[in-house]
Amino acid sequence: MKVRELNESCKSCPFYRAGCRIYQAVFKLGMYVIPWGMPQTIEGPGCIRKLPDLIRSRGFDNVLIVTDEALHTKLRLLDPFLAEMNRLNLRYTVYDKVQPNPTDVNVREGVEIFRKEGCQAIVAFGGGSPMDCAKGIGACHVKNKSAEKLQGLFKVLHRIPTIFAVPTTAGTGSETTVAAVITDSQTHHKASINDVSIMPKYAILDPELTAGLPGSITATTGMDALCHAVEAYTNHTYNSRLEQKLCRDAVRLIHDNLLAAYADGKNLKARMAMQKAAFYAGRAFTRGCVGNVHALGHTLGGLYGTPHGLAMSVILPHVMRQYGAKAYRRLAELADVCGIGGATQEQKAKAFICWIEQTNAKMNIPAHLDVIRDEDVPQIIRWAKKEANPLYPTPAVWSTADYRRCIASIRGAGKEETT
Ligand SMILES: [Fe+2]
Repeated sequence: MKVRELNESCKSCPFYRAGCRIYQAVFKLGMYVIPWGMPQTIEGPGCIRKLPDLIRSRGFDNVLIVTDEALHTKLRLLDPFLAEMNRLNLRYTVYDKVQPNPTDVNVREGVEIFRKEGCQAIVAFGGGSPMDCAKGIGACHVKNKSAEKLQGLFKVLHRIPTIFAVPTTAGTGSETTVAAVITDSQTHHKASINDVSIMPKYAILDPELTAGLPGSITATTGMDALCHAVEAYTNHTYNSRLEQKLCRDAVRLIHDNLLAAYADGKNLKARMAMQKAAFYAGRAFTRGCVGNVHALGHTLGGLYGTPHGLAMSVILPHVMRQYGAKAYRRLAELADVCGIGGATQEQKAKAFICWIEQTNAKMNIPAHLDVIRDEDVPQIIRWAKKEANPLYPTPAVWSTADYRRCIASIRGAGKEETT
């Protein structure tokens, strides 16, 4: 038997699964000593105008604003905030060169401006990319190291400049997570800085900033938030009661508001609810972790450029269905939270998965993905397995055959993997 075959067969054996569970049990102990914290929030329509006053009240009068060009010069979403900064005579420098997948170059440029302009704090304004970039700038500034040197677990361990996070989508939850994904501009390799010290101190949840999002983005980012909550809740091993409550609250808010926000982008009540849901779900998966939906979705993003939210929306029901009885109890609890009925845990869990599929369909999200090529399937399995195991405490530790079955389901009937 070849080494790789031996390796693959070992990874489907009970000893491999037991090894993963032992790793997770040890990791869980570490969770108790980590000071997780949570950003303070300012919430409500138009609350972005209160941010300059908050900045001043914290003793800062010179900040770096990290954003992207479209938000700054095309959509002009920063205008009300900058007008208020000017009115209060607060100094700021805008760095708006952040790319969709922020690079080490973005971070380096940001650090240079932060130092040259004598900035004291950072405002991260935008979706996940400006937020991740801002966290990277703070970490690299304080450690005086490149992003590459800080990627991994707990390599910052220093207080970074205060970050005020202003999300302009409702999905990533990056305003409350401890991760910053930075891409190497030479190799295009993505890796994450993971440290509690990079969590923003403040999150400004202003639904007016998300009111102009197109329906398709509202749909897929909202389903990404749902995915964070559902995966963190079904994982459950690392969670405290706080994360479990945050997951339930997030799922209820999404159940009650996502379709309304999709149907009418100007519905600020629904937009506000979705921003809160994304925030709760982001904080929940920061400790509870995501699972195989994200592990598979990340590989599709890397191989085919599949947008993260779209991958999450499509893959979520396939993965949950394949967990079967191992996820029934947790999914049934989420069904209860949403008022989705059923006589047994199994019925409720299945009804909850059906609700996800129906919501996708109502928002024109496909049930399957047709980008996956036969020859890529072994690679997808390797990458997904490497990401998920042993770190993610998923309801079931999957073997190669399990991943293969799930990928076949994601591709749709008649597209069974043949390699
Ligand atoms: Fe996600």
